[in-house]
Amino acid sequence: MVPVSTPDSNTPAELAAPYGSGPTPPSAPIKRIRTHHLQAAKNNGTKFAMLTAYDQYTAQIFDEAGIEVLLIGDSAANNVLGYETSLPITLDEMIVFSRAVSAGAHRALIVADLPFGSYESSTAQAIDSSVRLMKEGLVHAVKMEGGAYYADTVRAMTAAGIPVMAHIGFTPQSEHALGGYRVQGRGGAGQALTDDAVALAEAGAFCVLMEMVPSDVAAAVDAAVAVPTVGIGAGNSTTGQVLVWQDMAGLRTGHIAKFVKQYADLRTVLSGAAKAYGDDVRAGTFPGPEHSF
Ligand code: KIV
Repeated sequence: MVPVSTPDSNTPAELAAPYGSGPTPPSAPIKRIRTHHLQAAKNNGTKFAMLTAYDQYTAQIFDEAGIEVLLIGDSAANNVLGYETSLPITLDEMIVFSRAVSAGAHRALIVADLPFGSYESSTAQAIDSSVRLMKEGLVHAVKMEGGAYYADTVRAMTAAGIPVMAHIGFTPQSEHALGGYRVQGRGGAGQALTDDAVALAEAGAFCVLMEMVPSDVAAAVDAAVAVPTVGIGAGNSTTGQVLVWQDMAGLRTGHIAKFVKQYADLRTVLSGAAKAYGDDVRAGTFPGPEHSF
């Protein structure tokens, strides 16, 4: 059949995604990382990497780079929405970011944070919020801040089919209660962290994440639990490591925490590109004939 063509039809090139095409589908089926792969890493003494992601392109880039776990952190509050803390972000907002990341990543295990106010009231609230993240945000697991106090909640969530990553040590949602960003588990408080991790792992948490904990305390926690651990500012004994991607890639300004290593200077790259574009537009050199119809 002869294709119908009219003088004002778009060419195939014009039809190809003028403003972004959505996620590029993988060329071959990709094996999804699952919680048992993280457990295998712990059992085999190997490591895995985790990064935050909040949108389809970073999710796709990190996924293709082989990052095993992507976290839609409630740090989207500070790193995307511009709030001072992670507290204001809502479950609805987390679901939007989660959907975007889920659309971009085909291999990584995708974990979303239960935001402040979405799980503390009751076990039912924790399950309902997690179900929304999994059903509407299409994530594979949730992360929840808090210690042994939440063991019964984690048990019920796990029984309901919700994989839970526990988050102990410095828990940013409690920053006002903890008196700011402070290393946790120093001095005699280390044993309490181990007790928290053991209680949460026994309740069914598939992984324990520790934030801003002395290395020796994190090593003791890792040795005390059979499940994999993830660290951020917790030394090098954990099974996995996590960073906020804007920290890792050097996008943001201001105080850089001691535990951050910057692997790029994206802020300078992006700023240079924006300045060059602005200069071209003001000089009348963009768009050129090659960008015009
Ligand atoms: O929200 C977040 O980004 C986190 C960190 C552990 C990376 O919870």
